[in-house]
Amino acid sequence: MKKIVVLTGAGMSAESGITTFRDSNGLWEQFRVEDVASIEGYERNPQLVLQFYNDRRRQLADVEPCAGHRLLAEMERDYQMVIVTQNVDNLHERAGSTNVIHLHGELTKATSSRNPNDARCIVDIPVDHEIRWGDQAKDGSQLRPFIVWFGEPVPMIEKAIEEVQTADIFVIIGTSLNVYPAAGLIHYVSPSVPVYLIDPKPVETHGARGIQFIQKGASEGVAELKGLLKNLKSTL
Ligand code: APR
Repeated sequence: MKKIVVLTGAGMSAESGITTFRDSNGLWEQFRVEDVASIEGYERNPQLVLQFYNDRRRQLADVEPCAGHRLLAEMERDYQMVIVTQNVDNLHERAGSTNVIHLHGELTKATSSRNPNDARCIVDIPVDHEIRWGDQAKDGSQLRPFIVWFGEPVPMIEKAIEEVQTADIFVIIGTSLNVYPAAGLIHYVSPSVPVYLIDPKPVETHGARGIQFIQKGASEGVAELKGLLKNLKSTL
């Protein structure tokens, strides 16, 4: 089976009704990143940050995977699929994808403020769960969202690089490629590997060459990609 690695961003969940970050009226027009998505912001005002993620987590109860999520999950029948997502929602999993790497964490998990990546402290929480100031993690520290904030390391990036380096096909869906190290994954793709980018708008791809743009939304774009890959399959 050929291996397809898919890097997804907020645009993948836009058609599910979750706002992106940098589109007009995006999340970063409503909130200051440094206040709600950085380790300094959390240390400065933890209650504000806890509430920001409680609100985003609760929204998951009201949204469903889009057709694009479902099509990617269905592709597991014909390909070895690896989803590397910057998204912290659980929509890829709810659509049926079984191999999802979350670079920036997950809204449906919580962890220790003292040692956020201590596996013994990472716990699953339901979408309606509110993390409150004073809630304790297993190590007795304040419980916090299992989210990678700006200024924190991205522990899953090494695994993501390994997957990209061994991909037969690389697909980018719904990301402005603004945030590193995720945006740098494109430079780990071997030159012989076909690269497809699905986005309704043009995306700055930092000098990477030979990208086939599918200038459509995620759902339409993945449907078109499936057709293109069927033709490619005979030549791969
Ligand atoms: N289908 C596909 N792509 C879409 C759609 C859609 N329906 N609607 C918008 N897009 C595209 C936009 O054109 C844009 O290129 O999705 C991309 C969204 O870009 P951003 O809002 O910057 O989101 P993302 O790239 O995922 O941000 C990366 O930044 O703030 C951090 O941690 C946060 O993971 C996030 C990271």
